Amino acid sequence: MAPRHAVRAAPLCAALLLAFALLATPASADDEAPLADPPVVGEPVPMAASIAALAPATARAEAKAQGAVLADKMREEVATAKAEAKAALDNADATWQSYLAAQQSQIAEAKASAGDGGELPKSLSVLAADGDAGARALARRKAVFLRNLRDINRRNAKSGDMLVFGVNNFTHLSAKEFKDIYLSSVFPPTAPEDSGRKLLQTKDTLQCNKKVNFPFGGVTPKAIDHRSLGTVTPAKNQGQCGSCAAFAAASAFESAFIAKWGATKGYTARNTDLSEQDLLSCTSGDGCEGAWPNVYVDRVACKGTLFEAAASYKASDSDRCPSVTREASGVKSWSYVPGNERSFAQALSHNPIAITVSGNELQSYRAGVYNCGGNQPMNHAITIVAYKTSVPMSNGEKWNIFPAKNSWGSGWGESGFVNFRANCGGTGSLKIYEYQAVLPIRG
Ligand SMILES: *[C@@H]1O[C@H](CO)[C@@H](O)[C@H](O)[C@H]1NC(C)=O
Repeated sequence: MAPRHAVRAAPLCAALLLAFALLATPASADDEAPLADPPVVGEPVPMAASIAALAPATARAEAKAQGAVLADKMREEVATAKAEAKAALDNADATWQSYLAAQQSQIAEAKASAGDGGELPKSLSVLAADGDAGARALARRKAVFLRNLRDINRRNAKSGDMLVFGVNNFTHLSAKEFKDIYLSSVFPPTAPEDSGRKLLQTKDTLQCNKKVNFPFGGVTPKAIDHRSLGTVTPAKNQGQCGSCAAFAAASAFESAFIAKWGATKGYTARNTDLSEQDLLSCTSGDGCEGAWPNVYVDRVACKGTLFEAAASYKASDSDRCPSVTREASGVKSWSYVPGNERSFAQALSHNPIAITVSGNELQSYRAGVYNCGGNQPMNHAITIVAYKTSVPMSNGEKWNIFPAKNSWGSGWGESGFVNFRANCGGTGSLKIYEYQAVLPIRG
């Protein structure tokens, strides 16, 4: 038998300190306390009816109507954001000054909360030197910012009326710096394969071993949106820790948790925030260096989950797993979902799914939908939360779309969300079909 690391693919969205992975010891196993039922926290909010439950002809008509509304909304948002990006370039110096001022107030806040000896996050520290060195660093940052701003406008000139790039908190970072801080620096060399499809992680690292075969088939929903079903929490911010996999997994099982306990215990997208830190602390390796979402979804199936308040996010991974009673997650098992439109849509009829994606192009994303294609390295994980069909494009095409939740804060993209075209062959839009997705299954 090959050594087990021979089949282990490099983890996703690693941060800079690859060496930490080598130093990390496995999380302690003293986290076996019994599971608690979640307490009742308030009045249950009834779920909106799913159009998946409608008769086929009605569902088709409803999906078409929703698609038209979505297209209008997107087109308007894209036009507005394009005009903003153009104005930003036309007034480049003023744009830089106000951008710098905003970053500097973030630096002040970060310094205040980090205290003495606390380190600034890398994306802020590149702006924070004093004296001559600081002046040189700022001149360089301005050059990077202006180059990105020109690039944003160049891409906007070519992106059509349904995709737009813009200024965000990453605009002073070069593509390489962005990749080094927020994405994986290592392309997965040999992902484990199963019947020709790429999987995320082999089962010998799973704590619960709750993987089951993909249980869905047959009916593909015309549309489903877990946001309107009330189970999708707002976008969070992973900060400068390559923990995208923990956030992608947590978002997926938060939806399962709310769907499972919402009616009886009163959990909603507004009062539910499950801990990513607990996932980092209680799995081996440096979760800031990268990981796979299936390992985390598997863990909560038998070990349970903690609320954010009980294990708040530190953007670092100490591997000190607290020995406490955890909440039952509502996740009974999970399955891989084959990388194609139909399977993803079928899985979404049950719950949001954690997926992997090529993240390089997302740095300046502002709004709209990515078309098929994109051949950059695989290095990020996010959560698909909806499926829309019959979205009319200006050229007469009808696109199907997967809206997805990212973990770069609500200032990024469309309030933290992004859209991918679904009706694509091959590895899909930004490679969302390259690996199998992970579906938490409620029970
Ligand atoms: C930048 O980050 C700050 C702090 O997290 C946030 O308040 C702000 O909305 C972000 N801005 C953008 C454009 O992402």
